[in-house]
Amino acid sequence: MSDHHTRNPFTAEESPAVGVTIENLNKSFGSLTVLKDVSLQIRPGEIFVLMGPSGSGKSVLLKHIVGLEAPTSGHVSVGTLDASDPETREDVRMALVFQAGALFNSLSVYDNLALYLREHRLADEAGIREKVMGALQILSLEGAAQKLPAELSGGMRKRVAIARALVMEPQLLLYDEPTSELDPVMAATISEIIASLRHEYHVTSLVVSHDRDLALNIADRVGILMGGELLTVATPAELRQNTDPRIADFLNPSIDLGNPRFKQLETAS
Ligand SMILES: Nc1ncnc2c1ncn2[C@@H]1O[C@H](COP(=O)(O)OP(=O)(O)OP(=O)(O)O)[C@@H](O)[C@H]1O
Ligand SMILES: [Mg+2]
Repeated sequence: MSDHHTRNPFTAEESPAVGVTIENLNKSFGSLTVLKDVSLQIRPGEIFVLMGPSGSGKSVLLKHIVGLEAPTSGHVSVGTLDASDPETREDVRMALVFQAGALFNSLSVYDNLALYLREHRLADEAGIREKVMGALQILSLEGAAQKLPAELSGGMRKRVAIARALVMEPQLLLYDEPTSELDPVMAATISEIIASLRHEYHVTSLVVSHDRDLALNIADRVGILMGGELLTVATPAELRQNTDPRIADFLNPSIDLGNPRFKQLETAS
């Protein structure tokens, strides 16, 4: 039976998910080596969460996939195409959700979403309206269409950034820290949205995040990058069992209240 009435303007059939293959990727900036022999395969349609401490090279790795950085050695491909070839971005629809949203402050939410479709002449105004309002509805933002980014909360801006990525009908959706700076409830909502988008659109999702709850709840697989090295790639269940102290300490950091510095503070007050 056709589900014509519930069918969304974003059609998964027309945008098959693409995978990413990273082979022996090394990246240095001058004498600083940031990525060390990273090999990784992200499967079409999966949610892959890349975790790791601040400065471990997560954003640099993401930039290789969207072609903003080129490998010092090694190879990155999106589907079958070379990620560092500018034409790849023409052939594969990739959307990157930036940490701070990267919205145009002078444009309304509606116009921020419509911009890409207008620039690429992908639809007439009626078609644009359908796609934009469809994306806003998915993210519970219908009421915000005419607002300016400055009039939104941080969580709303994050959702607008995701909605803007959705109107591109991406085959590959990349998120850089989608839940940072959000309260735990909003962070969980964003995690649910990322998970539901995969189910509805069969998009491949790569999420760079420090958010342990997000990783353990929505990832198919999690990669942990430390000091530019990929320590492990594992399912959330495998990760919970992992006994490598570097991974356990990263996932379950403890605050040492017995630290003498805390004692000094106590007695000083
Ligand atoms: N264009 C650049 N030139 C020189 N060094 C860079 C450049 N981009 C990143 N780096 C360095 O690469 C390292 C990794 O940076 P990256 O932004 O990938 O970290 P990250 O894992 O995303 O950290 P965070 O969790 O804080 O976002 C850092 O030491 C950073 O200073
Ligand atoms: Mg980063």
